[in-house]
Amino acid sequence: MTKLSFLKSALFLGMGFLFLTLLKTENTWGADQKSKFLEIFKKQECTKCHSLKAYNMAPAPTEKGKGDGWGDEEDDIEAPDLSKLSDKVMKADLKPDEYIRKFLKKQLKRDGKKHKHMFKGTDAEFKILIDHLLALTKKSSKP
Ligand code: HEC
Repeated sequence: MTKLSFLKSALFLGMGFLFLTLLKTENTWGADQKSKFLEIFKKQECTKCHSLKAYNMAPAPTEKGKGDGWGDEEDDIEAPDLSKLSDKVMKADLKPDEYIRKFLKKQLKRDGKKHKHMFKGTDAEFKILIDHLLALTKKSSKP
């Protein structure tokens, strides 16, 4: 094998790997993006308080009287459905994704109160969660 043809096959192999990696990435953002999102949404316990009517989901029943965000206690604010985010998110001073990021990390107060639940997953999971919620809102805002 000449030096040149060796280089050529090395290059060819490299391109192949790159292509495979790209394919894999494409997959996480393609068809199974929804199931990925739902997996995170459940794993991070968002379903304990929030419904998601867009996907026919009601919040999981929790023990009564534990300040579960259901609005059955005096100082509880009811957790809103997350199929379409409110103007408090979409028309905040921050960009919507930054607002959600800060709100769910308890770095931002709304009407003097922090969000009841701290997001504890990875940054990659956080991004999928936020992007998907914003996409759902945009979808349901169309006439
Ligand atoms: C313990 C109950 C509870 C859990 C668990 C919870 N939330 Fe919330 N969430 C609330 C309540 C209550 C509000 C309303 C707060 C307010 O209006 O001040 C809220 C508000 C929000 C909002 C703003 C919605 C809007 O349209 O204004 C977003 C976004 C949100 N939650 C996302 C999440 C995500 C994502 C998770 C999972 C990581 C989660 N929440 C877990 C109780 C909860």
